[in-house]
Amino acid sequence: MDTEKLGIKVIPRHVAIIMDGNGRWAKLHDRPRIFGHQKGVERAKEASEFALEVGIEVLSLYAFSTENWARPREEVEFLMSLLEDYLQRELPNMLNKGIRLHPIGRIHELPRATREKVEETARATSKNDRLILNLALNYGGHAELVDAFRVLAHRVAEGELQPQEIDEALVEGCLYTRGQPPPDLLIRTSGEYRISNFLLWQTAYTEFYFTPVLWPDFDRGEFLKALLDYQKRERRFGGV
Ligand code: FPP
Repeated sequence: MDTEKLGIKVIPRHVAIIMDGNGRWAKLHDRPRIFGHQKGVERAKEASEFALEVGIEVLSLYAFSTENWARPREEVEFLMSLLEDYLQRELPNMLNKGIRLHPIGRIHELPRATREKVEETARATSKNDRLILNLALNYGGHAELVDAFRVLAHRVAEGELQPQEIDEALVEGCLYTRGQPPPDLLIRTSGEYRISNFLLWQTAYTEFYFTPVLWPDFDRGEFLKALLDYQKRERRFGGV
């Protein structure tokens, strides 16, 4: 894609998105909440294709948090089956375009059919290298850090590691996103101004972009607006 034509001069390496507002969008259209999620999935596909076309290397999408289990059982079940169908349907396209699915979160706690579909898709796309799609499922930033600390504590208990040897690089190496650049830009839709337990460690120097647009209305044009806003920012990473 001719990014210059679109006015894009700075391409973030990693973009993270909190896709919020599906329920409100459905309500606005007088439809059940699941209708909003259906539309939301199509936007997730659109966002990943746009990311790939402009040359973003990593896209992290917050699809299901460790807190989302508190939703009505039918809604949780619907989201899981939506995800399974989506992965089933999208696999050829992901292989064709070079998208690698990298699930992040406590995947082992997902319902079995969902977990198997997620793992199968991750395996099938593991050689793809045009875009890494981090799909956050049963993800929580606190849970991710707890998991990392457990690994490190275990290594200390085994005598492989001294507590004073634990540094930022070692913690980072235990995160689900190990080896990836941290997000340059985090987008949240639907007018909420919260991080909601997403990528807590990784967003230390991330630029935030909040938009009132509800996720099912977040199209390529809205994504482009976020990128154009991002490139105006001056990033100092704590320096001057
Ligand atoms: C937020 O809307 C959305 C979610 C919790 C689920 C996000 C899931 C998708 C967009 C679909 C799954 C994605 C893939 C790639 C399969 P909300 O329900 O919190 O909306 P509300 O705040 O308006 O109620």
